[in-house]
Amino acid sequence: MKNTELKRIPDHVAIIMDGNGRWAEEQGKERIFGHQNGVQAVRNAIEGAGEAGVKYLTLYAFSTENWNRPKEEIDALMSLLVRAIQNELDNLMANNVRLQAIGNLATLPQRCRSELKDAIETTKNNTGLTVVLALSYSGRWEIVNAVKEIVNNYRKEQEITETVFASFLNTKEMPDPDILIRTGRERRISNFLLWQIAYAELFFPELLWPDFKKEDLFEIIAEYQTRQRRFGKTGTQVESEI
Ligand code: IPE
Ligand code: IPE
Ligand code: MG
Repeated sequence: MKNTELKRIPDHVAIIMDGNGRWAEEQGKERIFGHQNGVQAVRNAIEGAGEAGVKYLTLYAFSTENWNRPKEEIDALMSLLVRAIQNELDNLMANNVRLQAIGNLATLPQRCRSELKDAIETTKNNTGLTVVLALSYSGRWEIVNAVKEIVNNYRKEQEITETVFASFLNTKEMPDPDILIRTGRERRISNFLLWQIAYAELFFPELLWPDFKKEDLFEIIAEYQTRQRRFGKTGTQVESEI
């Protein structure tokens, strides 16, 4: 770890892990081969985030819209998820990593749900990096869900503030992402953390997810440290606050 020493470390990094299918297709292989190799990139991201001192790493692993993919690909992804959780659990424990999940988890196959639940339970007292898997997740789903709960809990419109609203989101215990990364050579959000990324710094590295290394994360953090986050103020105002 050289690049990010002692400078502003992001509390929360969120990643849209895109490009597995194309990574495999470019080698004349089946898409699932790309997903399999994406697991190593997940390890790299977790290791890098841990070393850099990031507190939360949210990984978009499966969107609500991904249910529209061919059944074989969905089945393969779900089995891969089960295996990855089983294989990585010791590693997560050894590295003091706490696992959490967001999304419409009730729609996941029973097997995935129970592995996930066990891993979340086993790692719940770890105090290092928190890794949040977004599974069967979509930002609009999360927002509509929050609205439904708010309607059931609040009668007066004046009581509903941004803070109250955010407390009904899946991410209620986390800070908003400081950094949003999307690999896969696309520049879109694809329904990820729509509310939470209001002021995230966006990064679109020109690589496909299986090629993601921890050095890529360090480079992004280093660039993040050079960016001025103004939150609507002027540059002069922000400088005088430092
Ligand atoms: C990201 O890679 C993984 C998931 C969405 C599950 P893709 O499978 O979307 O790969 P591309 O974008 O088709 O290359
Ligand atoms: C976004 O990737 C979802 C995940 C990485 C889980 P997609 O491949 O599903 O996004 P689109 O369809 O290209 O927007
Ligand atoms: Mg994709």
